[in-house]
Amino acid sequence: MPIEQSSRLRWIEVAPTEAVVHDIDIIQGLQQVPKTLPCRYFYDDRGSALFEQICDLPEYYPTRTEQAILEDCALEIAQTTGACELVELGSGSSRKTRLLLEAYQQLNHPLHYAPIDVSAGILQDTAPMLLRQYPTLNLCGLVGTYEQALSNLPPVQLDRRMLIFLGSTLGNLNPQECDRFFTQIQQSLQPGDFFLLGVDLQKPIEIVEAAYNDAQGITAEFNLNILHHLNDRFQGNFAIDQFAHSAFYNVHRHQIEMHLISLKPQKVLLQKLGYQTSFYAQETIHTEISRKFDLPTLTVDLKQRSLNSVHIWTDPQKWFALLLCQRQ
Ligand code: AVJ
Repeated sequence: MPIEQSSRLRWIEVAPTEAVVHDIDIIQGLQQVPKTLPCRYFYDDRGSALFEQICDLPEYYPTRTEQAILEDCALEIAQTTGACELVELGSGSSRKTRLLLEAYQQLNHPLHYAPIDVSAGILQDTAPMLLRQYPTLNLCGLVGTYEQALSNLPPVQLDRRMLIFLGSTLGNLNPQECDRFFTQIQQSLQPGDFFLLGVDLQKPIEIVEAAYNDAQGITAEFNLNILHHLNDRFQGNFAIDQFAHSAFYNVHRHQIEMHLISLKPQKVLLQKLGYQTSFYAQETIHTEISRKFDLPTLTVDLKQRSLNSVHIWTDPQKWFALLLCQRQ
């Protein structure tokens, strides 16, 4: 379906869809011991849809909790930043961002929004709805990875910019990647600009583990979808029913780890990559980490990258936090 074109909508493909992913990651990951895959590969169109379903699961508290916090503080955020361009990393369906758009609209600030996502499909579905819902909205969709998009941002049109990174996607980065990411954020912002960050906080293990082992098995399907995606993209022959979902909390590292377990010895060919690998029974592929943060450590890490936490909001149980940081 062609994308709606209008003066209020621009579209930037920072990388042609096929090259959005760097195939080399996959081979490198599968050659490691234990095997790994970059979690970005969860998010083909089917994976993005599954993730939307996860957000509505009773066990998956992060989305709901963050949404509730945002409902309470969106206006305060808009008041603090004043008119500014919103640039969102991993926007998906922009569900929570609507609360911010409402707030900026209510204050009569001009609405400029640049959603960034690796999944072109979800951006293309969301864009027309946003344009209809917000008659003054200027939209610039960017298809690509965060790294690619951050170094290809459209020129600033308003005086200020706010980078938005919600949903605790930061938790997918290990400490080293996290540090590099903060450096990139710092470099993409001018002094005075803002960074809005949503993070999942440390809490009792039972609650966290339940969130990644839901009764309906949607998280399992989401985890297995990474194999589906590789099959589609690279003419692969992963036998998806011969792998099982596993998710547990690593107390030492304060992170959920998701793995796929090979249920039997098997060979897998990714035709388009000309790459074959084999699995022994019970061999695992590490597909995701989801770190749970503590605020004192996180604010110090941000501060080291000139990102000052000017406001922090949490829910009453302190399960999730929203940090409004300002670039020094
Ligand atoms: C979108 C990366 C934050 O880590 O909780 C949900 C993804 N993985 N269930 C998370 C996810 C399994 C989610 N993030």
